[in-house]
Amino acid sequence: MNAKLKKQNGVVLTPEWVVDFMVEEALGGKKITGDEKILDAGCGEGIFAVIAARKFSKLSGKPIKKVVEENIYFTDISKESIEKTKQNLQKLSKNKITEFHDITDDFCFHNFDEKFDFIIGNPPYVRIQNLNERKEQLQRNYAAAVSGSIDLYFCFFEKALKLLNEKGRISFITPNSHFYSQAGKNLRDLILPHLAKIINFDHWQVFKDATAYTAISFLQKEKTTEFLYAENFKKDFQDIKFKKISAMHMRGDRWEFFDQKYLDKIIKLNKKYSTLQEVAEIHYGIATLKDDVYIFSPHRIDSKYLYFDAFKIEKSLCVPIVKASTYKGENQNLFLIFPYRNEKIIPKNIFQKDYPEAYKYFLSQRDILEMRDKGGGKNYDEFYAFGRNQGLKTSFGKKIITSTMNLKPRFYIIKDEKASFYAGYCIKPKNSTNLEDLCEALNSDLMKEHIASVSKSYRGGYKSYAKSFLKDFVHPQFCKAQPVLF
Ligand SMILES: C[S@@+](CC[C@H](N)C(=O)[O-])C[C@H]1O[C@@H](n2cnc3c(N)ncnc32)[C@H](O)[C@@H]1O
Repeated sequence: MNAKLKKQNGVVLTPEWVVDFMVEEALGGKKITGDEKILDAGCGEGIFAVIAARKFSKLSGKPIKKVVEENIYFTDISKESIEKTKQNLQKLSKNKITEFHDITDDFCFHNFDEKFDFIIGNPPYVRIQNLNERKEQLQRNYAAAVSGSIDLYFCFFEKALKLLNEKGRISFITPNSHFYSQAGKNLRDLILPHLAKIINFDHWQVFKDATAYTAISFLQKEKTTEFLYAENFKKDFQDIKFKKISAMHMRGDRWEFFDQKYLDKIIKLNKKYSTLQEVAEIHYGIATLKDDVYIFSPHRIDSKYLYFDAFKIEKSLCVPIVKASTYKGENQNLFLIFPYRNEKIIPKNIFQKDYPEAYKYFLSQRDILEMRDKGGGKNYDEFYAFGRNQGLKTSFGKKIITSTMNLKPRFYIIKDEKASFYAGYCIKPKNSTNLEDLCEALNSDLMKEHIASVSKSYRGGYKSYAKSFLKDFVHPQFCKAQPVLF
C-alpha cells in the first residue's frame, strides 16, 4: 500500500502486547456460550481477529476452525487487508477454513445484518483535512462528526455502539484527543453513558512508526454511571492502578479524570480561595513570527548602537527581551528590535528618518519577513511589523514568566520593567499581591498536582502550561476578598 493511501486510511498496526490485553479484557470475565459474534473493525492484517479467535476457542472449547467460520467477523476498506487477514486466520488451523465472515467495505456506511457481542480494533485515525470527499457524507450521518476538527475514528465509535447487542462490549485503541478537544464534545456526550474503562497512554508512544497520543477505551451497550481510569507508560499492564470516576463529575467542555479525592480537595479549595485568573492576568508574549530577524545577542553595545553580525541597530529602538522557554534566571543577553510607539507600528517615513540603520537592516531581511503567514507578510501595515500584535504592551512591566511546556513548574520573576518576553506566558497580579509570594505559589507542589490532573502531556514527560490550564489553579495564597460587613 502506498504512503498516501496509508495516510488516507489511517493504517498503523497495533503491537501484539496491546492487542492481547485488549482482547483479554473484553472477553474475559464474561460467560461465553459459544455463539458470540466478534467483529474486528478496520482489521488491517487481522491481529485482533487472530488473537480473539485463539482466545475465544480456549474460552468456548470450540475448535479454532469452527470459531473462525462461526464467530469471527472482520471488516476493512482495503481488499489487500482482508486477504491478509484471511491468510493469517487460516494459519491458525491445519484444516482448511471454508467460510469467512469478511466485509470489504467502509465500516461507517456498511449495512450490517447482525449485532455483535464484541467489537474490537484499532480504528483508522484520519484527520478531517485528509478525509477529502468523505467528509461531508460522514458529517451528515454521524452526530459525533458534525463539526470542528473531527477524525474518522469518532465515527467508528458511534457506529460500533449502534452495532452492539444488549450485552455487547467495545474495546478500541484510538487517539485521546476527543477527551479534551472542542470537536470531541459530541463524541464525549455519546460515549460517556457507556464507558466502562479507560487506559490512557497520554504522551507515551505505543506505536513504533507513528506519533500518536492514544488511549484504550472499553465501552458497553448497557448504561454505566461510573468507570475506571488509569494511565500507563510502559510495555505491559502490570501494577496498573485504576481510579473510579463518576460520570456525573465529568465536565462537558473537556474531560478531566479527577478521582473523588482530588475533586473534594478542589471543591473545598474553590470555596475558600480564588483561581489564578481571578487574582492575576495571564498574557502571551511577543510573537514576531520571525524571531531570528528581530531578536539578537549583540557582541558590542555603545552609547548609540547595538552591534551584531555586520549590522548595527539604534539603541533607542531596542528593548531587552527574555526567552521564557529557556529562561533559568540568568541574563540571556537578548534584545528585541521594537519598531512600535504606543502600540502602533512606526510608519515608514518616520522609521526611515529616525532609525536609518535599523531600516537598512530590515530592508536586507524584507524577503524573509514577507514570507511570514504563508506570504501574508506582504500585507502587513509595514513589512517590518510583528506577525501578531499580542504583548505589545502587556509583555512589559514586572511579571512572572513561564514556558508553555515544562517538566515541572518553572516560574521566574522578571524585575526589569523595560524587558519584554516571548515563547511563553506572563502572569501579573491584579491587586497588591506580592510578586515573590505569587511566584512561590506558582512553583508549589499544588501547581504540579493541578497540572498533572488537568493538563495535556507531550513526549518526554512534558506537560502543557497553557493559559487554559493555568487559569483554574487554586492556592491558599489566593484569598477571596472578604465581604464588607459594615
Ligand atoms: C489503524 S489501522 C489498524 C489495523 C489493524 N486493526 C491493527 O490494529 O493492526 C486501521 C485500518 O482501518 C482500515 N480502514 C480505514 N478506513 C476504513 C473504513 N472507512 N472502513 C473500514 N476500514 C477502514 C485501514 O485500511 C486499516 O487497515
